[in-house]
Amino acid sequence: MSETAKLIIGDETYELPIVVGSEGERAIDTTSLRQDSGYITLDPGYANTGSCKSAITFVNGEKGVLRYRGYPIETLAEQSSFIETAMLLIFGELPTSQERADFRTLLGEQEFLHTDLMHHFEGFPASGSPMAILSAVINSLGTFSPDLYDVVTPDRFRLAAAKLMSKVRTIAAFAFRKSIGRPIIYPNTKLGYCHNFLHMMFSMPYQIFEPRYEAIDALELFLIVHADHEQNCSCSTVRMVGSSEANLFASVASGICALWGRLHGGANVGVIETLQRIQKGELTVPECIEKVKTKQIKLMGFGHRVYKSFDPRAKILKRAAHKLLAAMGHKHDPLLAIAQELEDAALNDPYFTGRKLYPNVDFYSGIILRALGIPTPMFPVMFAIGRLPGWIAHWNEEFRDPTTRIHRPRQIYVGPHVREYVAIENRKG
Ligand code: ACO
Repeated sequence: MSETAKLIIGDETYELPIVVGSEGERAIDTTSLRQDSGYITLDPGYANTGSCKSAITFVNGEKGVLRYRGYPIETLAEQSSFIETAMLLIFGELPTSQERADFRTLLGEQEFLHTDLMHHFEGFPASGSPMAILSAVINSLGTFSPDLYDVVTPDRFRLAAAKLMSKVRTIAAFAFRKSIGRPIIYPNTKLGYCHNFLHMMFSMPYQIFEPRYEAIDALELFLIVHADHEQNCSCSTVRMVGSSEANLFASVASGICALWGRLHGGANVGVIETLQRIQKGELTVPECIEKVKTKQIKLMGFGHRVYKSFDPRAKILKRAAHKLLAAMGHKHDPLLAIAQELEDAALNDPYFTGRKLYPNVDFYSGIILRALGIPTPMFPVMFAIGRLPGWIAHWNEEFRDPTTRIHRPRQIYVGPHVREYVAIENRKG
């Protein structure tokens, strides 16, 4: 007989099924609780709520474990490429060489933007946030392929996924070029995914930008570690929007908006701003720690809803930051040293250790992006490019799951009781 939990409310006892995941995590299934008892569960911020069953990514926050489809992030970071990792997440298995080559060809075919879509970039102000532009243009992308609003067959889904994966970097690079008033550089199909992106970002019509291989490797790694992180704010947004049967393009565009905020994909901008303030002498490390402890500021790049020990992605990116800076001759980048000093100070302070606050993926990622020449307004965009395979995989998982219902949380209403409408002339000021 399957295990159940007993909930006693007054004289009534309710038996609730227990669900056990493949790694042993346990949940109490409250699906029928309201129907049986009249009660709902209340969990602001959903810290204790499982919104779905998923076979994509496993996180154990206590032990600092992250696996995509069963493969440890450390292994993928060392041995895989971003495209291979993306295929693993989206299609469920590591590709064969033929499958990877075919998908690369498809990405190459999809990397250009329709000329009419290009006109969108002219309508945005130069100061426009590249996240707003990315979200708007990704949503508009769907209007150029309305046949892909319905991705019932695997072939259509594959094409929609390839369109998004390929065009996201073209859109991101075009948004950047527009923001700095430089001419747009078209993609070069002969280049690999990351190399092509750096080409569109930094080449000039009269001079091709040739990135160092260490820079391409670091970008691959950055994208791999960002590729998925189960039910975070942006992924849950994509799943929620998708649950209404909104199409993949619209759902991903919503995910980009959710990622934009400083508590999520915008946190690495906050990290760099803090490190720069320390560098300029506006703040010392002890003053920064003090401000955090007295709740005047949050230490960006620290803390995580799930990780209550080291975020494994932060460890990978910290090592990568050191390696990249050494290879590029930036050994003495002051921000890396300041980040290390800040991390040491935080990890030796009971405020942080007591609350289990450790560096998260954002703490060192900005240093890598700076070394690649990516400006801070583009940081969340880089995160979005990395997270795209995860969003696509989750949207598809939800779309194909016959048990999916539209996401519709409940609430506990705490507003006024029924009131009588007073005509405007009778209202007192
Ligand atoms: N700096 C200072 N204090 C913090 C931080 C931080 N970065 N993070 C959490 N705390 C404190 C909270 O104030 C709270 O203190 P209290 O018990 O005295 O009230 C305690 O630690 C528990 O934190 P919660 O608010 O419960 O953490 P929550 O799970 O709600 O939030 C979050 C997680 C949003 C990531 C938070 O740690 C934070 O704001 N960090 C900074 C922003 C950041 O780096 N975001 C990126 C996250 S990773 C990602 O999205 C890719």
